[in-house]
Amino acid sequence: MIELQALSMRYPLERDTVTVLQAIDLSIDRGESVAVVGPSGSGKTTLLLLLAGLEQASDGVILIDGVRLSDLDVDAMADLRRDRLGIIFQSFHLIPSLSALGNVALPLEIAGKSDARQQAREMLEKVDLGHRVQHYPTQLSGGEQQRVAIARALVHSPALLIADEPTGNLDQHTGDKVGDLLFNLHTDVGATLIMATHDQEMARRCDRILQMENGSLVEQRHNAVSA
Ligand SMILES: Nc1ncnc2c1ncn2[C@@H]1O[C@H](COP(=O)(O)OP(=O)(O)O)[C@@H](O)[C@H]1O
Ligand SMILES: [Mg+2]
Repeated sequence: MIELQALSMRYPLERDTVTVLQAIDLSIDRGESVAVVGPSGSGKTTLLLLLAGLEQASDGVILIDGVRLSDLDVDAMADLRRDRLGIIFQSFHLIPSLSALGNVALPLEIAGKSDARQQAREMLEKVDLGHRVQHYPTQLSGGEQQRVAIARALVHSPALLIADEPTGNLDQHTGDKVGDLLFNLHTDVGATLIMATHDQEMARRCDRILQMENGSLVEQRHNAVSA
């Protein structure tokens, strides 16, 4: 489903350039779950930003279902993201003028679903926010905003879920619940899951663990038993 070929990312600095990803080759099958682990600064977030089409690679190719992301124009990329991708990044990008319910319902409303609000409410209940549906982002704590963003990413059952440290800001209980939601989507609808995480338990539940160091993939491990 996902194919990366010699993917590199460099950022220009004043005098030289900094290489953040170097020549990454990787294939991920449909329905696979993959954890990306590695020290802070090793390039995990950058890799996920490229996969989500939110940054442009310096070199190399990203194919999603055989389509080169670099061939898509802005509109086609937006369509792909809306129809197929669920994206959870650490900056939540919630819309400040919409309530929690409005934020989660939005992708469904754009897709023309008549029961958007009902589905959004049910998803917010699953992340323990049934009592906060009318709150606006500024009226929610950081962990609550993160859960709204997670509910929004999952509400349309995306085929590919890209998550950057999805449980990083959450307490153990809420983190476990969010982990269960991600893996349920993965097992129930066969969604492909790729996530950066420092949480060993989350990594252990994935089919495969990719270890990054200094912008390179240094190791791939297959988990013998995955959840
Ligand atoms: N826009 C940017 N300009 C320059 N350097 C960047 C930029 N974004 C990220 N980096 C650098 O890329 C490296 C990898 O960052 P990141 O992908 O966020 O790593 P991780 O998620 O593994 O902590 C870091 O050293 C960071 O400073
Ligand atoms: Mg990161």
